Amino acid sequence: MMYIIDTANLDQIRKCVEFYPIAGVTTNPTIISRENTDFVKLIKDIRDIIGPDLMLHVQVTASKADDIVKEALLLKEAVGGNFYVKIPISQEGLKATSILHNMGMKVTETAIFTQQQALIAALAGADFVAPYVNRLDNIVSDGVQVVSEIVDMFKAHDIKTKVLAASFKTVEQIHKIAMSGCHSVTINPELFETLTYHPMTQYAIDDFNADWESVYGRKSIAQIFEGK
Ligand code: G3P
Repeated sequence: MMYIIDTANLDQIRKCVEFYPIAGVTTNPTIISRENTDFVKLIKDIRDIIGPDLMLHVQVTASKADDIVKEALLLKEAVGGNFYVKIPISQEGLKATSILHNMGMKVTETAIFTQQQALIAALAGADFVAPYVNRLDNIVSDGVQVVSEIVDMFKAHDIKTKVLAASFKTVEQIHKIAMSGCHSVTINPELFETLTYHPMTQYAIDDFNADWESVYGRKSIAQIFEGK
């Protein structure tokens, strides 16, 4: 399963690229707006930080198919590398998805709330579909179940489109999505940190350090080898 980070904050992206095995970065107009800065420079800076191989997903704001296609090509030209254009699902969005797919562009169909939206987006040529887990939970639906059924449906029909589950608020949601066989999740950096931290782990590390120091003092293993 791939972990992707859902942010346009350059400091957070730098940190995640340095420390975590992330497969890329996703953004949307809300996330971009939070940075309140030059849009084109921002997405180019993200590409510079993550390099050409990690995925960068950037969303269009146009609503007509021709305009979506135009924006997609401009975005691809600006950021290059492993680029996915995010298109919210709609009639025009599906039309644009087919056009872009036939042009060889990679598409992530986003704002998915139902299994059938996901299936139709896949058939239109989307490489990823992005269902919104927490927003589904918030409307008393079941985000994990919707994602699981999309994953199963794609398997049953031998559809190569991958599922990129998005919109998370809890570690439990992420874990259940991972157990469903979902291909990828995009999560904000704060939530990513909560996935790796556990107080019992810190307790164990503190114990190791105390036991080591009781015999070897503050000498590290490297210092012992170097005879210092
Ligand atoms: O990219 C979509 C995702 O960021 C939505 O997340 O937290 O706004 O529901 P959220």
